[in-house]
Parts: sequence; C-alpha cells; structure tokens
Amino acid sequence: MSHGLRDKGLGRRTGKAGRVMRIGVIGATGYTGAAVLGVLAGRPGSEVTLVTSRGLKGRRLADELPHLSGVTGYGDLVLEDPADLEKLKDRDPGRFPELFFLAVSHGVSMGLAPRVLKLGAKAVDLTGDFRLKSPAMYPRWYKTEHSAPELLGEAVYGLPEIRRGEIKSARLVANPGCYPTCVILSLLPLAERSLLGPDSPVIADCKSGVSGAGKSALVPNLFAEVAENFRAYKVIGHAHTPEMAQELALAGGKPLRLAFTPHLVPMNRGIEATVYLDSERLPPYPEIRALYEARYRAERFVRFREEGGVPQTVDVRGTNFCDVALFHDEGAGILKIVSVIDNLARGAATQAVANMNLMTGEDEGLGLPLAGLRP
Ligand SMILES: NC(=O)c1ccc[n+]([C@@H]2O[C@H](COP(=O)([O-])OP(=O)(O)OC[C@H]3O[C@@H](n4cnc5c(N)ncnc54)[C@H](OP(=O)(O)O)[C@@H]3O)[C@@H](O)[C@H]2O)c1
Repeated sequence: MSHGLRDKGLGRRTGKAGRVMRIGVIGATGYTGAAVLGVLAGRPGSEVTLVTSRGLKGRRLADELPHLSGVTGYGDLVLEDPADLEKLKDRDPGRFPELFFLAVSHGVSMGLAPRVLKLGAKAVDLTGDFRLKSPAMYPRWYKTEHSAPELLGEAVYGLPEIRRGEIKSARLVANPGCYPTCVILSLLPLAERSLLGPDSPVIADCKSGVSGAGKSALVPNLFAEVAENFRAYKVIGHAHTPEMAQELALAGGKPLRLAFTPHLVPMNRGIEATVYLDSERLPPYPEIRALYEARYRAERFVRFREEGGVPQTVDVRGTNFCDVALFHDEGAGILKIVSVIDNLARGAATQAVANMNLMTGEDEGLGLPLAGLRP
C-alpha cells in the first residue's frame, strides 16, 4: 500500500545558471541519510536520482519516509540495492549521480567509496572511515583493518572552518563526527595559536541526544532505557577521541592530552560540550575572548556568544550553527567553553551539504536552513 504522496511540486530544482546536480544517498532511510534528503529538499540546484536501502529495496522512498513525500523528485524514487551501483550506471548513465552521500555504518564506506569514485562520482562520507589519517589507527579505534588505505591521504577532513580550500577541490570528503565538530570548534582558536599542548590536559565533557546512535533497534536505546535516565557511555575509548586529537594537533602543530567523555541525554537531537582548560597556562581571559571573536567573526556558521550567554541545543536545532561561549572560573583557575550543535544537522547532514556546496563551487550555505525549530 502506498502512503507517501507523489510529487506536489514542493522544493525548487534549479540553482544558479539552471545547473542541476544529480545526487545519490546510500543508506537513505537511516537517520543521517534521511536528514540529508531533508536538507536537499530545500536546496536549489540538486536532484536526488538514486537512493538505497538493502532491507527496503524496491519500495518507494515516499512510503518509507512520508515526511518527505510531496517534494519534487522524491515521490517517484524507488529504493535500490547498493550492491547494484555499477548496473544502475550501465542502465541509465544520464541519471547516475555525480555526487554520493555515504550515510552508512562505520566500516561500510571503505568498501563503497572506491566504487563510487571509480564510477566517476564524488563522495561525502558520513562515517568515520576516512577521518583518521593513519590506517594503523583503525584496528584500535574502529576494530577493523582499513580496506582502502590508499584513499586516506586523498580524503579531506570536511570541517569548512579548517579546510575550506581543500574541500573545494576534493573528490572524497570525510564529514566530521558529531562530537568532534562540537569539540574542535570549541577549541580551534586556541589550537591554532598553539595554546594547547601536552602539559595541560583538555577535558571534554559531552552530551548527546539519542538519534546520535542511529536508527537500528538496540536495547540500550529503547525509550524505557533512555527516558528519565542519564548515563555516560564508552567512558574510555570512544572512536571520536583520536579524531578530535588529530585535528587539534594538526591545527596547533603539537600533540595534546584530551580526555573525552560522552553521555546520553533523553532527547532526540542535540550535542552539548563543556570543555575545561587550566586558565593559568593561557593568556589573560580578555585576550582569549578577543581571539575567539576575531577567529569566528567571518565564520557564518559559528556564533560566538556575548559574555554570559549560555548556548542551548534548542537554539541550533535543525541548523548548521555551532554556538560557542567562554566562561572564566577565576576561583578555580579554569576556562570553561560551552558549545552546542545539532548532531543530525551540523554534526551530519547540513555540514555534509555544506561540503557538497563547496565541492561543487556553490555558496557554502546554499539550501541550509537558517532558523532552528524552537521550542
Ligand atoms: N546519527 C548521528 O547523529 C550521526 C552524526 C554524524 C555521523 N554519523 C555517522 O553516519 C553514519 C550513519 O549514521 P545513522 O545515524 O544514519 O545510522 P542509521 O540510522 O543506522 O543508518 C545507517 C544506514 O546504513 C545502511 N547500511 C548499513 N550497513 C550497510 C551496508 N553494509 N551497505 C549499505 N548500506 C548499509 C542501512 O540501510 P539499509 O540497511 O536499509 O541498507 C542504514 O539505514 C554512521 O557511520 C554514523 O556514525 C551519525
């Protein structure tokens, strides 16, 4: 039975100069794949021509994701098997995507990305498969050998605030993890001035909504396990730790000591990071504030808060913004940095579309929602 509406003419198709980019989403019915489709629905200049799901292949996308039904182009899309990419290109090369979003489980993209690139398309990968530069890190942090180590050098870490120039010419972009996006943006102005180092630990105390764990049914993510509950998880060894450390060390030219603890919060979306640093090893607080103000003045998607403003996840829900605030706890000699993002937006889909925009020569913010859903 069909539940989703066919095309109601919602959403604009053409962008600047009438150019329409063909897009594919692998893992289209997962949380981040569906979130990418949601952003693309409002982006001019793109047409989704291929969506995949192994379990739901042959079914209409609009039936599986009725919140997206009625959007131009989505009503008639049928979910394909990702094993058939080569056959699909042979059958209709004119509809085959020029760029793919790989919104799949960790370890899957290292098999998919080489195929997609061989088929002549670019890729924005939402998994961790191409974020770490050394293949030797994968067995330890992702419990798998890397099957495409030759692409690790080519893949560009897709945090526009650090690598905007490189992203523009990339074939393969490793979209940052959700926690790393929040923590790196919390610390980037300090790292870039080499103010983080091995002498003074960085403590990143982070909280995430439950959608961060994806859509698959797992007992710890059941409503009865999560509601009215608050818990830390992967207290030691979360795979986002080396990603944050890698990028902050690259920005500062020296390694740092980072202790990252994630917590699960009974809400759907959002990440909050409270980061602690020894302020006695840093320049005076007014100088630090001036540094953040100067670094983020020209960054559209980082909002550095006025003194005293406290970022909240509800202020960034559905948007590409990262809100950052500084606090000086003089009595304790601690600098506290509080920042928030939406894990499915800046932590995944809107950042992925921003990367696509850069890779295709468009404005970074094309099609990105600007106002969050509040309350
Ligand atoms: N959730 C977040 O907040 C978030 C934020 C940033 C990054 N990420 C990362 O983004 C990726 C996707 O996360 P998610 O939350 O969207 O997960 P999800 O809801 O579990 O969706 C993942 C999708 O991947 C597909 N998939 C799994 N194994 C596959 C395979 N072997 N071949 C092809 N498709 C496969 C599945 O689709 P079928 O089974 O239907 O094929 C599934 O719908 C993960 O690597 C995650 O770590 C997630």
